[in-house]
Amino acid sequence: MCSVRSFVTDDLFNFNHVNLDMLTETYNLPFYLKYLSHWPEYFLSSSSPNGECMGYIMGKAEGVGENWHGHISAVTVAPNYRRLGLAAMLIDVLEVITEEVHDGYFVDLFVRVSNLLAINMYKKFGYTVYRRVLGYYGAEEDAFDMRKAMGRDPHKK
Ligand code: COA
Repeated sequence: MCSVRSFVTDDLFNFNHVNLDMLTETYNLPFYLKYLSHWPEYFLSSSSPNGECMGYIMGKAEGVGENWHGHISAVTVAPNYRRLGLAAMLIDVLEVITEEVHDGYFVDLFVRVSNLLAINMYKKFGYTVYRRVLGYYGAEEDAFDMRKAMGRDPHKK
């Protein structure tokens, strides 16, 4: 059993075990606070009955004209709670918010080209590789920009 609720500032003291994962980026405090203040509807935490953070998603709305879209900045689930459908649920909520609150044309995200598990997961959810961004993770690695059209883009442009 779990609940999904808005991420709050106190959660920043409670998510180290989730971020202790080499594929999960940890940002500085102002970065998280900017997301919380600008796009609180896109920052969600999933908690266990005893209050433990099971995972979270953070995102934003950005772009102009037909580039207006929702963006998944991070989605991560603690190892103990993986493969229970949590990422699927969090991503689904972000897509609903993109459609119903922001009326965005698509949702996009960047993922390491080596993160095959996540790439295949996104493909299963209907995302396709839109382009490869060279050096997105520094000299270290490229990223795939993956996108999924929302209802506002019926022709999937
Ligand atoms: N092996 C194979 N497929 C997997 C998988 C695994 N270990 N984990 C997830 N999937 C695929 C499956 O198709 C799964 O559907 P199914 O269980 O019905 O077969 C689908 O993804 C959704 O799985 P779900 O249970 O919702 O994912 P999750 O809650 O375990 O979270 C991640 C998936 C990627 C978020 C999680 O593994 C994680 O936090 N990884 C580290 C951080 C990361 O890579 N984030 C994404 C960066 S862009």
